[in-house]
Amino acid sequence: MIDIVILGAGNVASHFIHAFSQSQDINISQIYNHRPESLRDFSDFETTKEIDKIKTAEVYLVCIKDDKVQKIVQSINQPQAIIAHTSGSLPLLKTSNRDAVFYPLQTFSKDKTISFKDLPICLETEYESDFKVLKKLVHALGAKPYAVSTIQRQELHLAAVFVCNFVNHLYHIGHEICAQKNLPFDILKPLIKETADKINFKTPNQAQTGPAIRHDQTTINRHIQQLDNPNYQEIYRYLTNSIQKSNE
Ligand SMILES: NC(=O)c1ccc[n+]([C@@H]2O[C@H](COP(=O)([O-])OP(=O)(O)OC[C@H]3O[C@@H](n4cnc5c(N)ncnc54)[C@H](OP(=O)(O)O)[C@@H]3O)[C@@H](O)[C@H]2O)c1
Repeated sequence: MIDIVILGAGNVASHFIHAFSQSQDINISQIYNHRPESLRDFSDFETTKEIDKIKTAEVYLVCIKDDKVQKIVQSINQPQAIIAHTSGSLPLLKTSNRDAVFYPLQTFSKDKTISFKDLPICLETEYESDFKVLKKLVHALGAKPYAVSTIQRQELHLAAVFVCNFVNHLYHIGHEICAQKNLPFDILKPLIKETADKINFKTPNQAQTGPAIRHDQTTINRHIQQLDNPNYQEIYRYLTNSIQKSNE
């Protein structure tokens, strides 16, 4: 049984709390959050808003916003414990004896359930023995551990911003365009699903279709005219150029 303390009560922390609490091999001994209001959902657990009252545990999982991680890690006065943050972009902090990274490569929103089965979790530790402990945590979730260096993780995080956050913003633009013409966004969902599925069979570049790759300039010009938001026109032009340059 591994005793862990989870720091944070946001998107990532909530999912970890729920998933670890299903495991026989993990005991969540406490949850810390700076604002007690955010701890209300976790009344089944011991909680605290005082960083100097956190309990002794084997692992501290810091699921706090990136800008505050360093400060929180420095405040955890547990030199014998593994202190792992969950950020894709922060380095191994080297502020405690046994710093580590436990970065789940997934998008988490509090109110959306998620399966941890085979979910990639990128691990980085100072010591091999700590890596083994974190691997046990990953297996307790049914997830998949990956040994990933800081530089590799930062590149993965960058790639993830393109394939998740930017793609999601493009969904938002599509959603707006549909709403303006009284069309249901649902009509686009089979297309969205097939676009995601196709990359299991082809590289993204091989899978590309549409006016940009065909150089259908009349259609491209008409699309730009159809857009009344200059910001979206600029995005359309940038992406069209990028698709065309990737295929020169
Ligand atoms: N969301 C994702 O999809 C995702 C995926 C992988 C990794 N991550 C990483 O996981 C970590 C947490 O992300 P998240 O999405 O869970 O963020 P979040 O939902 O915004 O939660 C952030 C947490 O930080 C706390 N916090 C905010 N300001 C603070 C302060 N001044 N001092 C101490 N604590 C403070 C928040 O408490 P209050 O809400 O009570 O203010 C909350 O518990 C980040 O490092 C992020 O990069 C996120």
